[in-house]
Amino acid sequence: MAEEVREFQYRAEDFQQVRRLLYERSGISLSESKDQMVYSRLARRLRALGLDSFSAYFSHLQQRDDEWQEFVNALTTNLTSFFRENHHFEALAEYLQQHPRPNGPIRIWCSAASTGEEPYSLAITAMEAFNSLHPPVRIMASDIDTGVLRTAAKGVYPLNRVEQLSIARKKRFFLRGKGRQEGMVRVRDELRDLVDFQQINLLDPRWPVEPGLDVIFCRNVMIYFDKSTQQQLLERMVKLLHRHGLFFAGHSESFVQATHLVRLIGRTIYQPAYPGSCPP
Ligand SMILES: C[S@@+](CC[C@H](N)C(=O)[O-])C[C@H]1O[C@@H](n2cnc3c(N)ncnc32)[C@H](O)[C@@H]1O
Repeated sequence: MAEEVREFQYRAEDFQQVRRLLYERSGISLSESKDQMVYSRLARRLRALGLDSFSAYFSHLQQRDDEWQEFVNALTTNLTSFFRENHHFEALAEYLQQHPRPNGPIRIWCSAASTGEEPYSLAITAMEAFNSLHPPVRIMASDIDTGVLRTAAKGVYPLNRVEQLSIARKKRFFLRGKGRQEGMVRVRDELRDLVDFQQINLLDPRWPVEPGLDVIFCRNVMIYFDKSTQQQLLERMVKLLHRHGLFFAGHSESFVQATHLVRLIGRTIYQPAYPGSCPP
């Protein structure tokens, strides 16, 4: 097959270098099949910076601290949607109703929040569970990617992102854009007020998260990490949960083997295996 003509020279070792750097920075373990994806995403950075080769880009990365964030932002995969894996939100609604907190709000950490659809789905679930726009719940939403967090904090989406939601939900929780915002929706202020966004790299040795959490959503991010990183993260997260707290994983992420840490209580829903977690 004829070699594809590329704008920038891209050698096998360039791809390996990207894999290594991304792994070190984010824990993301890119498979060999991602070499074309890496090229097209980083070619945009080279163009934006006016660089003519991948080697020049690697030197630029070494010299400019701020480029690291762009590098990571360019290479993350941010696929998400409102009420993705809806059964999790049904289970959460039940949990919220059955586990009121006498002292202070129920605390949820959404640890790979992407563009915000997941934390806003959590906020909607909480509002519906308590039948109030001001439920006793706080949601902390984080991601490594600052680009997606900016989108998330704005809470503005194209109409087709909310297409599959019921009319009642759309009416209650979204405002339709007019004029220049035609074709867009914005989440209601009360939804935004329930969620605090901040950047957290799950690979960092310390997270700015208080222990005693009620719920952790960590969905569809562990799949990018290798087994040992997954185990370490799971262990650290479970320690932040109180004894009856819930850990939600993505549909293809299984921790059934980690019986010393968690026990399965629903479809990819786990509870800490006592002891090792905070008391309630
Ligand atoms: C496929 S999205 C999943 C979004 C959402 N949790 C869901 O299930 O719909 C994966 C997210 O994980 C984030 N991510 C990847 N590596 C990360 C890391 N080391 N720390 C925090 N977030 C990370 C990516 O930026 C991306 O937004």
